Amino acid sequence: MPTDTRLPPPTLPQSRQRVDADVVIRRLQRFQALEILTARLLGGWIPGVAVWEVKHQLGAHLWQDASHSREWRTRLWELRVPNPDRGLGEQPRQIIRALGAAQADYEVLAGVYFALKTELAAAYARLAETTNPVFDAPTLAVIRRILPEKEAQLAWARQAVPALATDDAARHRLERWTAFAREALAAAGGVEGEIPAAAEPVTPPPGYGVPPLPFPAARRDARFTVNLTGMPLPPEDDVAGRVRYQFFNYAMEMQAVETLGSVLWETEGMEWEFYYDLARHCYDEERHSAMGEMRLRELGHGVADFPHSVANYAWRQLFDPLRRYCVLTYVIEADSFRYKHQTYQQHLARGDLESAQAVLWDIMDETLHVRFGQKWVPELMQRYRYEGSLEALEAECREILRTHTVNPLQRKYAEPERKPAS
Ligand SMILES: [Fe+2]
Ligand SMILES: [Fe+2]
Repeated sequence: MPTDTRLPPPTLPQSRQRVDADVVIRRLQRFQALEILTARLLGGWIPGVAVWEVKHQLGAHLWQDASHSREWRTRLWELRVPNPDRGLGEQPRQIIRALGAAQADYEVLAGVYFALKTELAAAYARLAETTNPVFDAPTLAVIRRILPEKEAQLAWARQAVPALATDDAARHRLERWTAFAREALAAAGGVEGEIPAAAEPVTPPPGYGVPPLPFPAARRDARFTVNLTGMPLPPEDDVAGRVRYQFFNYAMEMQAVETLGSVLWETEGMEWEFYYDLARHCYDEERHSAMGEMRLRELGHGVADFPHSVANYAWRQLFDPLRRYCVLTYVIEADSFRYKHQTYQQHLARGDLESAQAVLWDIMDETLHVRFGQKWVPELMQRYRYEGSLEALEAECREILRTHTVNPLQRKYAEPERKPAS
């Protein structure tokens, strides 16, 4: 009897319930909104988080979240949804508002990571299981790219967040807030928007007053000494002191992270791309701070060995997001190139290639940030109904910097050019 050489039919997994295209599209619309709103909320809270390493991590995560939002928006564009925010309703904002009403850093992070991000990661895994792997293969490809990053964020949070609640009362509050966050998420339809919404939004547990956002001052943990001006500027002939000063000030760019985070949170009514660019800017400053810290370590110093200043964050909070962002991009960043190019050449001349490379990478990032400023300051002028010209705003912001900054180099570069006596 001839042997049957045909392959047996493949054993197919039990047919799962597949989701239809319209369901996939509706979910992706929620995902993209929740991701960018999460980035904004994390930004708003960075100044209110005390632990230095946690601030760093949040700066990196908010950029990942903004990137995940972009992945979904790109996929939605392919699925004929060019305006994915249309018809979203209030629920995603309602979720973020509820999570942002926390009082302590460990609470807000427990809500964001243990409720929202955990649910998002589960929803991505669920979608990967239930969408059609052939018809909707590009969605699966997005999930394969972003889910490992989300899971790594969650693994970090499982270690880092409980460590912020240092006594029994705090641990109790953390648990209570996590339960509230899960409830608030479900009451607003869950991350997919498919849970029947509660008639009324749930309210925070008793004892929760006005949310602390936005933060008027930036926190530092107990390892840091804080004074008004930070490290004094060493004289020009103190070469080692000047290098130390430069990289210490890079480490203190955490204040730029905090200012951009607050602008990210506070500015309502801008298009999605503004928040995406700001998240990138915020993350870049986080890396500049890390770069300063790394170079300081190589030079034999810890980041907390010198007194820090948080005064530049504090005075910037006195101004609206338009001026805050204009001061940063049009004045501080645009004016910083002279000093950066000068020090780059000095590092090269002394054979300090490591410092030179650090400054060179920074110059490239700062060029991008100045471009962000040119792109968004005119839009913010409309948003905040600024009546004058761009030149008038820039002059006002230069004056604001000159009269408020505690950084001697920023003050020097903001001085009006001295005209030679005629
Ligand atoms: Fe920077
Ligand atoms: Fe910058």
